[in-house]
Amino acid sequence: MENRYAIILAAGKGTRMKSKLYKVLHPVAGKPMVEHIIERVIETSPAEIVTIVGHGAEKVKAQLGERSQYALQAEQLGTGHAVVQAADFLKDKTGTTLVISGDTPLLTTQTLDNLFDYHQGKKASATILTAHAEDPTGYGRILRDHVGIVEKIVEQKDATLEEARVQEINTGTYCFDNKALFEALEKIGTNNAQGEYYLTDIVEILKNDGKTVAAYQTEDFEESLGVNDRMALAKANEIMRARINKMHMVNGVSFIDPASTYIDAGVVIGSDTIIEPGVQLQGKTVIGEDCVIGAHSKIVDSTIEDNVEIKSSVIEESIVRKNADVGPYAHLRPQSDIGEHAHIGNFVEIKKASIGEQTKVGHLTYVGDATLGKEINVGCGVVFVNYDGKNKHHTTVGDHVFIGSGTNLVAPVNLEDHSVTAAGSTITEDVKSGDMAIARARQVNKEGYASRIPY
Ligand code: UD1
Ligand code: MG
Repeated sequence: MENRYAIILAAGKGTRMKSKLYKVLHPVAGKPMVEHIIERVIETSPAEIVTIVGHGAEKVKAQLGERSQYALQAEQLGTGHAVVQAADFLKDKTGTTLVISGDTPLLTTQTLDNLFDYHQGKKASATILTAHAEDPTGYGRILRDHVGIVEKIVEQKDATLEEARVQEINTGTYCFDNKALFEALEKIGTNNAQGEYYLTDIVEILKNDGKTVAAYQTEDFEESLGVNDRMALAKANEIMRARINKMHMVNGVSFIDPASTYIDAGVVIGSDTIIEPGVQLQGKTVIGEDCVIGAHSKIVDSTIEDNVEIKSSVIEESIVRKNADVGPYAHLRPQSDIGEHAHIGNFVEIKKASIGEQTKVGHLTYVGDATLGKEINVGCGVVFVNYDGKNKHHTTVGDHVFIGSGTNLVAPVNLEDHSVTAAGSTITEDVKSGDMAIARARQVNKEGYASRIPY
């Protein structure tokens, strides 16, 4: 295989997005668009990658890190001008250079490989990746002569009415003979509707120099969607999600309604797990086998082991171990660790706490900054009082403890194994193993007083 190089165009601001976030950093299925691009580009094994940065340069660099070299395009004078910025890195190299935009996140590695192969097969100086669009609005159109040979690319804004009717579009992805690319770039001008240096003008320049320009048409227009505005961003997310959901279904995951299920790229799900409608699985989430992820649950950067049931709950940066169940309407905040066979029930909030095996926290309870052992029963409405207004304090609960309903555990406090707290107690002191703590005022019944209450 000849040397491959890649240039990623990512300097534009993305004016049409009307956003504070630079266009190529907008996420599709949880990942910035330019991240999708670099992952695909790396899969084609280029010897060097140069990313053209400008608007948001530091943020784009932070995203891509050492996987790419960077050339700064200080002023965004057009896609042709952008590619020129890579000259210092590449212009003397021999080989094939892929030029790809940072805003076409749906392109697949297979299509890029096909483009390279086609380019090599045709021995062309340039090969354009094209697609047939039902609605070509906004894209550059591919103009071919009467025998089908590519003549030029005309941008929407420069197209005559007749040219605008052409449905074959430029995806903004190309293979070039590297030396021919940088030679031709020197001849690009700005004589067009936008006064920019268009990379697309290179087609005519190469042809005038007697070079071969080919076009490889992908079958799937959806892949080449260019995201220039929020409508296209929503569409790209929809297509990417459908692709991700299909991959999980192929792997043995059931979806009640795939169209309303939102799974980020990179999430892992085991077979025979059932995903109900409205579920969002985000970031570095891993779900085991035989789980049920109930309707409208949102799980972010968390691990859910095998055979777990999550009912309509929110889980962040936490782990739920085998055979446990959570919800409905529980909230596991960061650093919660739910043990095997544990039960976390209705309206329970857990933060930075580990819950031992078979422990039950069934109802209306807050557990924060705590370590709970195994086979504990936490009654209804228990509060782990972890914050004194300034500092957070830790509570430790041993194995087989029974915490009565309505207990407040004022941290720092320690309940040893097999201890009990009476319902309604406010516990401020440690409880020894086998003891019961009762910390509430004794009840007084006032005979006949009920009739004095004016209700
Ligand atoms: C471009 C193509 C168009 C094609 C479409 C496919 C040109 C002139 N037009 O149009 O034929 O159908 O992509 O999606 O090339 N960029 C820079 N520096 C610049 C300008 C742009 O780095 O000075 C980057 C942008 O960040 C973006 C990419 O180049 O990632 C494409 O620019 P964009 O403005 O989106 O071009 P389109 O109008 O979509
Ligand atoms: Mg674009």
